[in-house]
Amino acid sequence: MRNIIGTAVSGEDFFQRPNVIKRIARSLEDGNHVYLSAPRRVGKTSIMNYLRENGLKNRVFVYEITESIGDTEDFYKILAKKIIESQAFRGLDKVSERFRKATEKLIQHINISVDLPFVKIATQNTDKISFHSEFEKILEELELNNLHLVIMIDEFPKTLENIMNRKGKPEALQFLQIFRDLVHNPKIKGKVQFLLTGSIGLPPIVKKLDALHLITMLNVIEVPPLNTEEAGKMLQQILDNYQVQIQPDAIKTILEEIDWLIPFHIQLAAQEIIDVYEYENQIIDNQLVKRAFAQILHHRNNVYFEIYLERLKKNLETPDYKFANELLDKIANKDSIDKAETHDLAVKHSVTDTYKATLESLVYDGYINNHDDVNRYRFNSSIFKLWWKKYVC
Ligand SMILES: Nc1ncnc2c1ncn2[C@@H]1O[C@H](COP(=O)(O)OP(=O)(O)OP(=O)(O)O)[C@@H](O)[C@H]1O
Ligand SMILES: [Mg+2]
Repeated sequence: MRNIIGTAVSGEDFFQRPNVIKRIARSLEDGNHVYLSAPRRVGKTSIMNYLRENGLKNRVFVYEITESIGDTEDFYKILAKKIIESQAFRGLDKVSERFRKATEKLIQHINISVDLPFVKIATQNTDKISFHSEFEKILEELELNNLHLVIMIDEFPKTLENIMNRKGKPEALQFLQIFRDLVHNPKIKGKVQFLLTGSIGLPPIVKKLDALHLITMLNVIEVPPLNTEEAGKMLQQILDNYQVQIQPDAIKTILEEIDWLIPFHIQLAAQEIIDVYEYENQIIDNQLVKRAFAQILHHRNNVYFEIYLERLKKNLETPDYKFANELLDKIANKDSIDKAETHDLAVKHSVTDTYKATLESLVYDGYINNHDDVNRYRFNSSIFKLWWKKYVC
């Protein structure tokens, strides 16, 4: 397995995650719409890649990433394009008149070149159309026999956030309402399903809109970190690929040091282990593991962690940002912080009305958790904690 750092993997580079895949498959088979929930960099996009490549019984997948989209109509335009271009569409022969017309209308308004047997392409048309209505029409009329179409939308929460920031809350609410109506359309139910995810959490954004009732149709599936056995296997597979020799005991130490066993952090550790091995040319033991870990905090990895700090700056009002910053400083220095202290800190920064929402997004976005003890928050990742201590505190 190659060590592909920073971008979603596919094919041979995907470390198998049968448990998560099984849970997604079961939920889709039960007819749910799914929201894949996990903090940044846990491997959501890679899982979607796996599904695209390998499929599931009776299901065809299309995938679109909507990170840069900040407008409802653009959102449906891009989804329509993806679906019209999909393999599923190309296989259609008998279609209804309404379906044919809606498809032709969309093709006239989207820059797309596709050859479909049932479509007589007319010239481009600049009349205004409602992309979301036409999109809904083609889904209503779509006949895939016994197959189900699963539309995977990566970065759905980012789209919602973009609309909220660029166009305001009423338009963001309308976006959610339109999406919910589409999902509830009885003519679509049972043949089209949505699988959503994103690098930022959906519920905290929807909460800002006071609209949690608009996402209750989503079945949330958590993507957990790897367990110790899986993480050891993944690390070994990467190291084998680079012919790195390592003592079993050292593998155990690496996993203990990483603590939060997400594939990305295993890759970061593997990168340094490979470097140390090549430099020293000797079997990796606990001593060399220590050296490798010191290197993880090297400048070259800043780019992966700075994004967490930037997001806080960009998305929080100044007092909330100051609160979050000091909170993380305290956790980095003391390992954990209890709830009473978070309240004291909120009083200090005059954010008693908003600090709970800030805490919740820090949990959702993968900075901190209170899994072990509901009254104490700690960093998810010991690597990130060390980075915060070195570069931010
Ligand atoms: N199953 C896996 N096998 C191998 N590497 C993986 C796997 N899952 C994730 N990774 C690695 O972890 C990193 C993050 O993966 P990915 O982009 O899929 O995560 P994500 O949860 O979609 O991240 P983001 O929240 O930033 O969108 C990448 O470096 C990728 O190579
Ligand atoms: Mg992703």
